[in-house]
Amino acid sequence: MELLETMNAIEDQEWLEAPSETVAGAVSKILTQPGGQPTPLSDFLNGVWLGHPLHPMLTDIPVGAWTMTLTLDGLGTISRRSRFNAGADTALAVGLLGALASAVTGAAQWQYTVGRQRRLGFTHAALNIIATGLYSASLLCRLRGRRGVGKAIAALGYSMVVVSGYIGGGLVYGERLGVTHIPEQELPDTWQHAIADDELHEGDLKRVTIADVPVLVTRQQGLVYTLAATCSHLGGPLAEGKVENGCVVCPWHGSRFRLNDGRIVNGPATFPQPVYETRVRDGKIEIRAMGQEQ
Ligand code: FES
Repeated sequence: MELLETMNAIEDQEWLEAPSETVAGAVSKILTQPGGQPTPLSDFLNGVWLGHPLHPMLTDIPVGAWTMTLTLDGLGTISRRSRFNAGADTALAVGLLGALASAVTGAAQWQYTVGRQRRLGFTHAALNIIATGLYSASLLCRLRGRRGVGKAIAALGYSMVVVSGYIGGGLVYGERLGVTHIPEQELPDTWQHAIADDELHEGDLKRVTIADVPVLVTRQQGLVYTLAATCSHLGGPLAEGKVENGCVVCPWHGSRFRLNDGRIVNGPATFPQPVYETRVRDGKIEIRAMGQEQ
């Protein structure tokens, strides 16, 4: 069975749903405030401060370090010299620290998934935990002078990392976890009719589609705001959310975006919402892409 088929088979394993739910619930409990908002720790782990998810950056540490371990172990075996041992062991230990950081940030990101994303993420995490266990055992063997066994266990751990990395790539590029969910279409440069002025009442949140772009239109304290209607995090419908303190709050996971510029006030979203130039003319609310000449 090819790896791609294996991935599809994992997606179909509905029995993974129950343990995934339990773990995701436990993670959520730690990283969510009583009101349902993500904690500052959750925002930090999700990479809100960074402008993109933190997890993918940190996964490079164990993958890189354990590749180094594999290489130095191989060189040591071929040359039958011990001068590669210290480097291999150090890289292994660095990889363990990186794996811990990757696990924590990955769990923070994964807690918001559902269905296939959740099952794939659960399998990805389980393989990484097994790999980390194997590398821990390998380090123990090396410290006790059983280097041959330690090298064999590390090689087994590396095979887990490779499969897990493949699944992780599928989660990002296939399932779009951690990438922006803002539609690729852009609003035209010319003024477009969005909605009649008298159809938008104070406090309304309305979704309109202009040139295939879903747009949220709202009136708050007399002012009209327009921004992308699809939440950049995982595609939540912002028009079904609410407005608080000048921000629209996503109904799915509570990301807050400022109405006037789309900036993130709190995550888990890491990409801001595009906002549009807006005017009221002849009883019509019109919008266009930002940054146009008059
Ligand atoms: S979809 Fe997750 S915060 Fe909007």
